[in-house]
Amino acid sequence: MHTSMNDDPAKFSLSNFLAGESNDPLQAPASFTNWMRLCAWAAELYEPELLASADARTVIDYGGKPRPVINLCSYNYLGLANHPEVLVAAHEALRTHGMGACGSPMLSGMTDLHRELERRVAKFLKREDAMLFNSGFGGALGTISGLLRKSDVALLDNRSHLSLRDGAVLSRCRTEKFEHNDPSSLDAALSRQKARRQLVIVEGIYSMDGDFGNLKELLAIAESHGASVFIDEAHSMLGCGEHGRGAAEHFGVENRVPLVYGTFSKAFGALGGFVAGSKDTLQYLRFYAHPYVYSCALPPVVIAAILKALELGTSQPELRAQLWQNADYFHAQLQSLGLDTGASTTYVMPIVIGDRERMYRLGHELRRRGLWVAPVDYPAVPQNRICFRACVTAKHTRADLDEALNILADTLVPAMLQKQSA
Ligand SMILES: Cc1ncc(COP(=O)(O)O)c(C=O)c1O
Repeated sequence: MHTSMNDDPAKFSLSNFLAGESNDPLQAPASFTNWMRLCAWAAELYEPELLASADARTVIDYGGKPRPVINLCSYNYLGLANHPEVLVAAHEALRTHGMGACGSPMLSGMTDLHRELERRVAKFLKREDAMLFNSGFGGALGTISGLLRKSDVALLDNRSHLSLRDGAVLSRCRTEKFEHNDPSSLDAALSRQKARRQLVIVEGIYSMDGDFGNLKELLAIAESHGASVFIDEAHSMLGCGEHGRGAAEHFGVENRVPLVYGTFSKAFGALGGFVAGSKDTLQYLRFYAHPYVYSCALPPVVIAAILKALELGTSQPELRAQLWQNADYFHAQLQSLGLDTGASTTYVMPIVIGDRERMYRLGHELRRRGLWVAPVDYPAVPQNRICFRACVTAKHTRADLDEALNILADTLVPAMLQKQSA
């Protein structure tokens, strides 16, 4: 790259600093440290300290001072993270079971609460069994690396989450990418890899683009090749489908996927991951998924909270209805402001800015004005799709959403018009 970093640090991205620059791998590349110093004003938008709960309106630290914000930055889609009944359940488990599980589930970390949650998740998803992971990332990574072998092939949508890609890398299987949501590209990739066992890996809702996986068409292609399909339902579980059973329920394809994977960190408002499926497959996976066998079980207090969240999320469909009503409203209003929300059709909405420096400048302005959205930079999205990501929840009131829209109308809209005329 010819541009000098000191002259134009915005021309650089995380992809420029992968090579080591000293003999010691424990030392960060000096150019990265310099870049971070030059970009400190932009990096301030990352890791903001949340000073209250992940509610629709909350308080974050901005410039060393508490700043009340409308929170469009949280995965608390149904508002269960701070539901009073969830908090009571967690308190009770803290009293009965203490804080940590203090062991891998295999050896000593499996409590009666963990078993109960396994049973309830399996029943909810109409599967024989379920197993729990202490993170969603570990669950995806552990499931894929625990089941795929070197002689297999993983076919990944090119917008796949890193937990899925890293799982395939760890398994040392061959990986093939296909164009996002594109059946003909998947068909070509499957045709190239006929001799191997094939696993097609897709997502219910894509976490950066906010669009649904094209499940019906991709499943049909996979089935025509005799390939299995794995759906990451991290963002769709409990938020999609009539009963909350995710994108597979939404598209009516549940009985065509043998394994269900999701997380407890999004609509469940807690932490962890799970996979549900046949007893035999899970019995095998319990011994071969390293993040399961060699890592501590979730704290019982978290399990108790998830049990209550599952009960509320399944017995109160009005929460899901409110989530979608809010998403539809916000989406329509963003479009009427002329903002680019890409392919989003869900409660996860990119607002595309397409220029790194402008995005960070606007990000500061939005925080100053009291709106909290996530900055999303390359390589998480392509350079020309650098964006903010807004997540709408069931707990946002119309007044919250309208205030957020007013702030966007005052800040982003003039900036984007300026860009067009430049
Ligand atoms: C699609 C997808 N899969 C897996 C994960 C990992 O989940 P967790 O944050 O619970 O570790 C995420 C996290 O955002 C995700 O977006």
